[in-house]
Amino acid sequence: MKQSVKSLIAGNWKMNGLGASLAEAEALRSALEAEPATCRVALCPPATLVDRMTEACAGGPVEVGGQDCRAEASGAYTGDISAAMLKDAGATLVILGHSERRQGYGETDALVLAKAEAALAAGLSPIICVGETLQEREAGRAVEVVREQVIHSLPLVLAGQAFAVAYEPVWAIGTGLTPTLEQIEEVHRAVRAAMIERLGLAAATTPILYGGSVKPDNARDILSTPEVGGALVGGASLKAADFLGIIRAA
Ligand code: PGA
Repeated sequence: MKQSVKSLIAGNWKMNGLGASLAEAEALRSALEAEPATCRVALCPPATLVDRMTEACAGGPVEVGGQDCRAEASGAYTGDISAAMLKDAGATLVILGHSERRQGYGETDALVLAKAEAALAAGLSPIICVGETLQEREAGRAVEVVREQVIHSLPLVLAGQAFAVAYEPVWAIGTGLTPTLEQIEEVHRAVRAAMIERLGLAAATTPILYGGSVKPDNARDILSTPEVGGALVGGASLKAADFLGIIRAA
């Protein structure tokens, strides 16, 4: 088996998936048991499926994560879910600060930072998302915007802890558009520099995932780009066959 330096391929199901979709997680598990992946693999289903997916994947190579959590540990927050609840349901990871939350719910860097602290305190590894809008990229501000997000969204307690940052250009999510490999490398290098600026050299080897229209046919190129330590995959993680195509490219 070829050596991979990729750390994690995580699937974000977003608001997709009913009980019947667990068959996809089971198919993924069986395929990875038959031929192990060269990296960690995780699925982040909607909160309603975390518990059942954990059961379906128990003892196997597929980890389960949440897609968001509340910063508070418990309380009168109707409709929200805490990091401890995700952990209790079997999650080991949680996606935080996804652009769909930053944009749709007005989540700020400060809120994402508080959520990351809560996730760590509950024993979850956060995947903290950053990324520029098309307007910001066209204004030549991609690197600056992403640097600011990293500096202000990563709590200092992350130093030395297991976590990941995902660079997801907002304009590449669900659109089929992807940056050039040079653009991906440029931003990933900037993310790395900002992580080290914020957390010190402990962050020199923390994986930086790329996300935004990763598919089986572009995964190999993207995953071979310097500083790309894995992928955060939306649409193409819903079907085990597509997701496997990406995992096999790592
Ligand atoms: P996409 O989503 O792969 O469907 O573009 C990526 C993400 O939002 O994490």
